[in-house]
Amino acid sequence: MATSRRDKADSYTLRAHREGYPARSVYKLQEIQESCRIIRPGDSVLDVGAAPGSWTLYVHRQLIKGQGRIVAVDLNPLGLNPVPPTVTSFTGDAFSREIRAQLTALGPYDAIISDAAPMTTGNRSVDTSRSEYLAQQVMLLADEQLKVHGNLVIKIFQGGGQQAILAQMRQKYAKARTLKPKACRSDSFETYLIGLDKKENPS
Ligand SMILES: C[S@@+](CC[C@H](N)C(=O)[O-])C[C@H]1O[C@@H](n2cnc3c(N)ncnc32)[C@H](O)[C@@H]1O
Repeated sequence: MATSRRDKADSYTLRAHREGYPARSVYKLQEIQESCRIIRPGDSVLDVGAAPGSWTLYVHRQLIKGQGRIVAVDLNPLGLNPVPPTVTSFTGDAFSREIRAQLTALGPYDAIISDAAPMTTGNRSVDTSRSEYLAQQVMLLADEQLKVHGNLVIKIFQGGGQQAILAQMRQKYAKARTLKPKACRSDSFETYLIGLDKKENPS
């Protein structure tokens, strides 16, 4: 992930650097965890769009506490060195047939977390529709690979059909909500959809 001048001046970025995380996004997951308790020690977690690896490292260090496992997938390799022992990583499109087969072989998961984002073009309507597509793909992945009672986090760009996906989540999860962490940049239009306690029989 490129570091811009804006990143360098950002207090979250400086803190991430001090604490050994490759990206400031770690504090978004921290806030989501503090408010929704999505991951517990010993969980099996799938991290979609995981590079450079801050969420993965935070889950390893703080949430599963070295007892569970993390499967991390991204178009780009993780930037973690060393890769923690709880982590299995795949490089490629999370929704391709080949990678899905590998994710399935290691599933099902107690939690699926997705910070996946498209390459932005600057055209908001193109960017939001690409983000919506990714979010829909993660919903489908969770239908197949998230355990009953499991928890789901999906990033989506606001305006990208998030109300429709939230409505689907309400049918499939006991609780569903939107959360925009304080660590999101003030000019960012990203937000997170959170599904808690996957139902056995969707309504
Ligand atoms: C904001 S970054 C994720 C940051 C990460 N959560 C962290 O804390 O280091 C978004 C990532 O989504 C990935 N991505 C986008 N589309 C993807 C896809 N189809 N399959 C896998 N990863 C994807 C991008 O390559 C990018 O690395």
